[in-house]
Amino acid sequence: MRKKIFSCHSFITHAIMKFASQSCFIKGEYQKNMFNEIINFDQMDLNAAPPSKEPERQYYFIARCREWVKDFQKENGRLPRACVFNMGCQMNARDSEKFRGILAAIGYENVEQEDADLIIYNTCTVRENANLKVYGHLGALGAKKKKNPHMRIGLCGCMMQEPEVVEKIKKSYPFVDLIFGTHNVFKFAELLWLSIDSDRTIIDIWKDTDQIVEDLPCQRKYFFKSGVNIMFGCNNFCSYCIVPYVRGRERSRAPQDILKEVRALAEDGVVEVMLLGQNVNSYGKNLEHPITFAQLLEEVAQVEKIKRIRFMTSHPKDLSDDLITVMSRYDKICPHMHLPLQSGSSRLLKIMNRRYTKERYLELVDKLRGAIPDISLTTDIIVGFPGETEEDFQETLDVVRKVGYDSAFTFLYSKRTGTPAAVMENQIPEDVAKDRFSRLLTEVQEIAKERSSRFQGQVLPVLVEEVNTHTPGLMTGRLANNLLVHFPGDRGLLGQIRDVRLDESRGFYYMGTLADSPRKDG
Ligand code: 5AD
Ligand code: SF4
Repeated sequence: MRKKIFSCHSFITHAIMKFASQSCFIKGEYQKNMFNEIINFDQMDLNAAPPSKEPERQYYFIARCREWVKDFQKENGRLPRACVFNMGCQMNARDSEKFRGILAAIGYENVEQEDADLIIYNTCTVRENANLKVYGHLGALGAKKKKNPHMRIGLCGCMMQEPEVVEKIKKSYPFVDLIFGTHNVFKFAELLWLSIDSDRTIIDIWKDTDQIVEDLPCQRKYFFKSGVNIMFGCNNFCSYCIVPYVRGRERSRAPQDILKEVRALAEDGVVEVMLLGQNVNSYGKNLEHPITFAQLLEEVAQVEKIKRIRFMTSHPKDLSDDLITVMSRYDKICPHMHLPLQSGSSRLLKIMNRRYTKERYLELVDKLRGAIPDISLTTDIIVGFPGETEEDFQETLDVVRKVGYDSAFTFLYSKRTGTPAAVMENQIPEDVAKDRFSRLLTEVQEIAKERSSRFQGQVLPVLVEEVNTHTPGLMTGRLANNLLVHFPGDRGLLGQIRDVRLDESRGFYYMGTLADSPRKDG
């Protein structure tokens, strides 16, 4: 039979139509891509060869999988069920939303892990613990799969970019069906189809990529807020960190694509976006028409229906005055900066390859506080880095006291094979590191408790985000500075920005009461 050439142009023009609805997941014939445009997968010609161009190629494989779902439904009297289990950072969480979007487009029902026919683990590998957790889960899944041989297991994310991990999985967990990495997330539909069609283990790991594929479906966790990738990868090579090896070199998305996505989200009911990248402050440097993060932020701030903008993560070495100015100029840019310190010792910072000193860091904090007086500062700190002395550790405590963080993520140094720090002499004995860790934690918690209580008694806008699962009748929301507030209310408030009186500080959160009638802009 003569193979028809798939015409992507006509497909796109016929199949993409503007659609404005709240829901991101529509079962049936039509699905939306991340720009809120409708794609009709059932118009695909499956007798044709798969297109070579992306994302049309993935649309083709989604359509193929949809045919398989129809057969599955005939045989089993129900739709196949899938669960995507996220184990990593916000970047991973966003990737998981893309997997869920593709699975929804295929026709999978989204369920809890116990009921799933397909389980995808989106892994992290920043610290060794993350890897151990995955092996633990796999051990349990092996037994489950023996009872239900139709179950399919997929692994993806940062941990899969480590060759020794893939070898270990092949040897010790041969029942895993699908393994892919961080550079070919967009190929998920194609890889899933290969796995379904061939019934053998599919492994597809890329070393790096310069490709950014737009236009794929995406299913958000919250209808009112969303992460937005602005860049991928990291060029910094901090000496302890495995991220540059598993996420590859920095690649920025084109500003027009980011803005198109933000506008589509706003039309779809989103009021808060979080701009995501390993190092957002170096956004845009490698684009054909370079643009700074400050410029991008200002453009995002022009999108009227977006009421809150957050971003993550900032590297102190690239934090510009322009960024601080833009932050101070727009109320909708949340007064919160996550500014990883890692260590307060300039000597150690040099060995960590962080490219700033203790003094420079403290200067930045002064500048931020000067321009945005109420800004909340949060951070990441590592203790037990090779060669860390008690004096180095005291320098870290000194910065913690001087800055007064609103909260801090504290980590025990974890040796990551392949990083320069892993082969450094003077690895710190576990008991010494743990002792420093608990001293640091006590200090951080005491300061954070005091800092967090500074808004007690005020009435501040809160984005209502969750039904409180611990106490019936309570809702949970977030202040612009990221602190949580629990208050009496009902689920009808979800997604609204409401004024809440902060009655009582309980350390890391507030108990409050609604203090307004609905805002016009909420
Ligand atoms: N050990 C401990 N913590 C680490 N981080 C990154 N690599 C390591 C490691 N090898 C921490 C850093 C970073 C955060 C995301 O994870 O503090 O900011
Ligand atoms: Fe890792 Fe440093 Fe890049 Fe952050 S900036 S991801 S700590 S290498």
